[in-house]
Amino acid sequence: MDTNTINLPKLYDEAQDFMPLFGTDYIEFYVSNSKQAAHFYKTAFGFQDLAYSGLETGMSDRESYVLVQDKIRIVLTSPLKSGTDIGKHIDAHGDGVKVVALWVPDATKAYDEAIKRGAKHYMSPVEEKDNHGSVVRSGIYTYGETVHIFVERDEYKGIFLPGYKEWKTTFNPSPVGLQYVDHMVGNVELGEMMTWCNFYKEVLGFAQIVSFDDKDISTEYTALMSKVMSNGNGRIKFPINEPADGKKKSQIEEYLDFYEGPGVQHIAVATDDIIGTVRELQSRGIEFLRVPDNYYDVLLDRVGEIDEDIAPLRELGILVDRDDEGYLLQIFTKPIEPRPTLFFEIIQRKGATSFGKGNFQALFEAIEREQELRGTL
Ligand code: FE2
Repeated sequence: MDTNTINLPKLYDEAQDFMPLFGTDYIEFYVSNSKQAAHFYKTAFGFQDLAYSGLETGMSDRESYVLVQDKIRIVLTSPLKSGTDIGKHIDAHGDGVKVVALWVPDATKAYDEAIKRGAKHYMSPVEEKDNHGSVVRSGIYTYGETVHIFVERDEYKGIFLPGYKEWKTTFNPSPVGLQYVDHMVGNVELGEMMTWCNFYKEVLGFAQIVSFDDKDISTEYTALMSKVMSNGNGRIKFPINEPADGKKKSQIEEYLDFYEGPGVQHIAVATDDIIGTVRELQSRGIEFLRVPDNYYDVLLDRVGEIDEDIAPLRELGILVDRDDEGYLLQIFTKPIEPRPTLFFEIIQRKGATSFGKGNFQALFEAIEREQELRGTL
């Protein structure tokens, strides 16, 4: 069982949960070149070889590489011919997240409960088998063309899923200390944030845990509104953003324009040594957003005493925020695709269960400087 439980709601009763979720099972990206993407996630982000599916395993229309780092599993999938759903997805959205797979005790029951509560069908429950056992998967749509696949794998001892073989190469850069998915954020259209918060509440049994309005997180030009939905045991947290009115184009609108619809904006991954992790990522070429240097001049006045020295935080551009329960350190990459869409957050929690609201002003200004360079502000 995962140990990444934080922010456990006090009234949570597992027996009463119609949609028990153990955690994130895998994240599948549709990408235009799975082989090269796999190399990037190994080299730059420290993911490790795990599994492969493609022509050599009898798959004729797609190729997938599965990579792992601690509890994080990512799948990189490309089409092998024209006219496929995968290819159409890439044409519309660029490289991006297609599947946020959720590990469940019963994928058939999860699907039935979700459909009964109004979810849009993506994939009926199907059992897949090989000589390592069986896995049942089913799926529903969430915002845009993004889907949740329910994965029931307690009867499976294989490396990933039936149909995949072990993938090993001679080039294996070390991990960078990424441990688990802390949260994943979705961007939806203006006026649709509550629609999707209600979807997570009614269809998946989530509850809202934090909220802030556009007054909290706007600059002179751009703004967003956000609410955070969490499942009952607190292991899965999905903030939902929508654009808010500003003088110029919101970063959320920019995302929606370039992704051509709603989708996953960022994946926040946890580390227990953010200074070491970010130093390694920067040395491997990952580019991060930078806030103005004077952020660090007033940092301790804002957040109080912290364990870390300011110097490495300032050097690497790591941000700090505090809430009632503790503090957190975080940093955001620049978008990792040609389109200004998906990016990663690296986060280390030291008690804090919030998402870094105190950093949004400085961050938004940093994002606007990037938008200015792109001519999309
Ligand atoms: Fe985040």
